[in-house]
Amino acid sequence: MKQTWWKEAVIYQIYPRSFKDSNGDGIGDLPGIVEKLDYLQALGIDMVWFSPIYASPNVDNGYDISNYYKIMDELGTMQDWETLLEGLHSRGIKMMLDLVINHTSDQHEWFQEAKSSKTNPKRDFYIWRQGKEDSRPNNWKSFFTVPAWSQTPETDDWYLHLFDPRQPDLNWKNSEVREEIYRMMRWWLDKGVDGFRMDVINLIAKDDNFADFPNPDAVFEMSEGGYANRPGVHDYLHEMYEKVLKHYNIVSVGECVGVNPENGLLFSQSSRQELHMPFAMNILWEAPPLSKIKKYLREWAAHINQDGWYGLPLGAHDYARQVSRFGNDQEHREVCAKALATLLLTNPGTPFLYQGDEIGMTNVAFSSEKDYRDIQFFNEYEDLLKNGKSPQEALLQLQPTSRDNSRTPMQWTAEPSAGFTTGTPWIKVNPNYLEINVENNETNPHSILQYYRQLIAYRKTNKGLIYGKYQDLLPEDESLYCVERTWEGQAWIILLNYTSQIQPIPTVIQQNLLPFQVALSNVAQSENSKLIPWEARVYQREGA
Ligand code: GLC
Ligand code: CA
Repeated sequence: MKQTWWKEAVIYQIYPRSFKDSNGDGIGDLPGIVEKLDYLQALGIDMVWFSPIYASPNVDNGYDISNYYKIMDELGTMQDWETLLEGLHSRGIKMMLDLVINHTSDQHEWFQEAKSSKTNPKRDFYIWRQGKEDSRPNNWKSFFTVPAWSQTPETDDWYLHLFDPRQPDLNWKNSEVREEIYRMMRWWLDKGVDGFRMDVINLIAKDDNFADFPNPDAVFEMSEGGYANRPGVHDYLHEMYEKVLKHYNIVSVGECVGVNPENGLLFSQSSRQELHMPFAMNILWEAPPLSKIKKYLREWAAHINQDGWYGLPLGAHDYARQVSRFGNDQEHREVCAKALATLLLTNPGTPFLYQGDEIGMTNVAFSSEKDYRDIQFFNEYEDLLKNGKSPQEALLQLQPTSRDNSRTPMQWTAEPSAGFTTGTPWIKVNPNYLEINVENNETNPHSILQYYRQLIAYRKTNKGLIYGKYQDLLPEDESLYCVERTWEGQAWIILLNYTSQIQPIPTVIQQNLLPFQVALSNVAQSENSKLIPWEARVYQREGA
């Protein structure tokens, strides 16, 4: 297997709006991030992925781009961006930009032109269809609950948008669109960007028949026969590779909807020359029971043997907080956050950390729907009301899953607004910031943050955790995760308790562990025969 920097990298995702505000307007910005570069360096990460920083009306917090060549006003200037890039590079940290090219904002000049008339030269940059009997061309629903087709006042055609109506989908069939996108990618790469995370990239090719779906409510489940992986997607990505990606020493990561290790291989296999890796997202979507998580992890690890690679996130800006979803954010929050970190950072796939998870930030439950900010939240909320739920019921249902759970401001200190801003934050701070914040984590030698630093450093010096063979020693167990990694005569065993109860260590595992020693653990004292709730250990055996 070929060894490369992006297989060895630990990547940290920043949601710029919520990371650090420098000018008191309540919105995180690029100079704010610059203030925290030493923090990122001390964490030991190799690359930062920035959720979109381009000009945008912020209907979907930057995932609706109105100008790919400009920085969003609220985030700063191109000069600020240069300073950020320089600051990262001088610390040996690479920069990954989010590339949102399935759709643009309706405020993008392409769409402004395209919608103006049926004969406008940019008309074909988007996907227009005639309606059927005064109604939409088909029954497709967007990922944001509303129908996937809308009209503009200028003409009677309908345009396709797999997300919000203000996020019209680009027409990838049009080679002019593709050339424009490639030109823009080269422009950023020539400025020194080190990689792209490609937003919903396997949706760019559309089903040309535009036939009705049997179950239009199940947009996510329909990933295979529905919106994702339509014929043409691999041709486009290969073309992008030929025309852009292969000319740079960069990394390309695909957010692929409905991806599994099997179809994921078609994106990542190096001989296919498309992308370097898809995210192993099936784990994230479902937050399934442990045996299923283990099955997915085994499958993804096997995917590597077929010349593929994958990125592994446990948290991101589209999901509830990892410690709340997968684990225990109450009495076992600290040990649990560390256990999840252990699982993530001892896995072969490139680990993606999400801001705030390194201090164990949790979900929030706002008591009023007015405190939520996410477009998806409001669409779902409206939908629930339409279907007869009371406002209180709708709120309670959406609290645990809302994307805003992971978008509350980064908790830096116990000062007002968690030290995120001196003004009023654009979204409320999680009230638990008095207890959960970076400052506390810095002063406590046993904090979650310190443990993340240790784990990251350990991964760097033990490459077998990246390249080594992956063997699941307890595939069926619903309580314990126990994986052996072997590489060049060295071996590691990762053992963790995935429950909030004490768990005995099976005798066979105890036997296996005899030649090993604990190298890292998330509790002060451990016993040979049992694990306390969420206890995690990394064992190591030197030389054979
Ligand atoms: C991706 C992004 C998400 C966004 C959507 C539309 O899933 O991660 O935040 O809303 O694409 O761009
Ligand atoms: Ca600001």
